[in-house]
Amino acid sequence: MAFQIHERDTLLHRLGLAREIDLGTVGDWSDTVDRATFRNGMSRLGSAVSVVTTGAGAKRYGFTASAVCSVSAAPPTLLVCINRGSSCFPAFDKASHFCVNTLMPGQEDIAELFGGRTPTEDRFAFGDWEEGVTGIPVLADASVSFECELTSSVDEATHRVMFGRVVDIRENKKQGTLIYCTRRYLSG
Ligand SMILES: Cc1cc2nc3c(=O)[nH]c(=O)nc-3n(C[C@H](O)[C@H](O)[C@H](O)COP(=O)(O)O)c2cc1C
Repeated sequence: MAFQIHERDTLLHRLGLAREIDLGTVGDWSDTVDRATFRNGMSRLGSAVSVVTTGAGAKRYGFTASAVCSVSAAPPTLLVCINRGSSCFPAFDKASHFCVNTLMPGQEDIAELFGGRTPTEDRFAFGDWEEGVTGIPVLADASVSFECELTSSVDEATHRVMFGRVVDIRENKKQGTLIYCTRRYLSG
């Protein structure tokens, strides 16, 4: 629902919510750029392609993500943004751990498999999946995998930003990393 800013603030004050709610995420965004323009601009930011996983045993979940970023080296911390409307969000909402499996060139099929439309139970059909030190799915031949303990999260607009403390890293130094830029897969 889009309010005018003064209406929104008045309403929040009446409800006593002004301090509890991040005003930047509520209400009026009519002075911003539209979704297509934003997406076109963002498509020019090349990013590594990762499959972010959670779960254990037969209950495994994962999605392709390019919104992964380093936060801090000490303690080792990264962040991942997940769309709260995605089919695997309920699993990540409950998870205490997740793994960022960054893909290599040649693993575009895995990126597409985890990129939506395929039912969750079919996504792990390809690739050599192992259990990491915390029991979650780790791709054996990823360029690098970061197994993380969730430390905090914040909801912003349609997405949740998950912060993870890295508890284990597996690095494959033989090949490069799969990059997604201008809506194409590239070798990095
Ligand atoms: C190259 C690529 C990058 C993506 N990056 C993200 C991302 O950073 N965050 C996200 O929530 N979804 C991202 N997606 C989309 C998710 O992978 C997709 O929404 C997810 O698999 C859930 O789809 P579902 O609702 O059909 O299960 C990306 C997809 C592709 C192909």
